[in-house]
Amino acid sequence: MSTSDAAPIALIVHAHPEPRSFTTAQMTTAAQALRDAGYRVDVLDLYADAWAPTLARDDFASVEGHFKPQAEQMRAVKDGTLDATVQAHLDRLLAADLLVLSFPMWWFSLPAVLKGWVDRVFAMGAVFGGEYGLFRDAALAGRRAMLLFTTGGSGESFQPGGAFGSLDDFLFHIHRGMLEFVGYQVLDPVVTYGPAHMTDQERAAALETVRESITLVTADPRSRDASLV
Ligand SMILES: Cc1cc2nc3c(=O)[nH]c(=O)nc-3n(C[C@H](O)[C@H](O)[C@H](O)COP(=O)(O)O)c2cc1C
Repeated sequence: MSTSDAAPIALIVHAHPEPRSFTTAQMTTAAQALRDAGYRVDVLDLYADAWAPTLARDDFASVEGHFKPQAEQMRAVKDGTLDATVQAHLDRLLAADLLVLSFPMWWFSLPAVLKGWVDRVFAMGAVFGGEYGLFRDAALAGRRAMLLFTTGGSGESFQPGGAFGSLDDFLFHIHRGMLEFVGYQVLDPVVTYGPAHMTDQERAAALETVRESITLVTADPRSRDASLV
């Protein structure tokens, strides 16, 4: 498929501090697979852009008294006074048909810089709440999202009954609490287990698997909702 103005847009939000890491190579591979599938790909590299992850009082032009973050988000969205960087990222999010969060698993979750991106950019009033509801009534209903990540642990350790427990259990707070919460249909995650323990040859093969998985997952119209509700 060739890209054109009508091509769907994929926004990849990437969080790894090292450009030469496997996680970054995985992101680059996924970006190319999406381009090959006809997407226009927009990459937000949070470490390279020195993204500030804390949602704080100084995000807002004027806060008097007790700071209520979501109330201030609602007010700033309504008045058009969101922080300029947050607004720019929100605009890129709202333009995207597919959101891909790309990261290494840290403490069974997202690196803080990426969690902070969600805190600031998934603003109340803009993607849920206010004139929108939650889940299927939220602003991003009809769009798709997926996780693309690496782990330190092996695939076996994330099986049900494995040393770490079922991967789906760890992903629930992201899949349900962040992505579905704002309306996304969540696609199957693409995961590379333990790249640090691989030879160069195994890493090359793993990147090829990532390429194939991205093509398959993004072509699959199934929703994961049924298994997560
Ligand atoms: C702060 C920190 C926390 C981590 N927590 C986990 C974890 O909870 N589970 C896991 O399997 N690996 C964990 N790891 C290992 C990373 O997931 C692993 O090193 C990374 O995915 C490998 O990809 P990279 O070589 O591109 O960094 C952690 C690493 C760091 C630095």
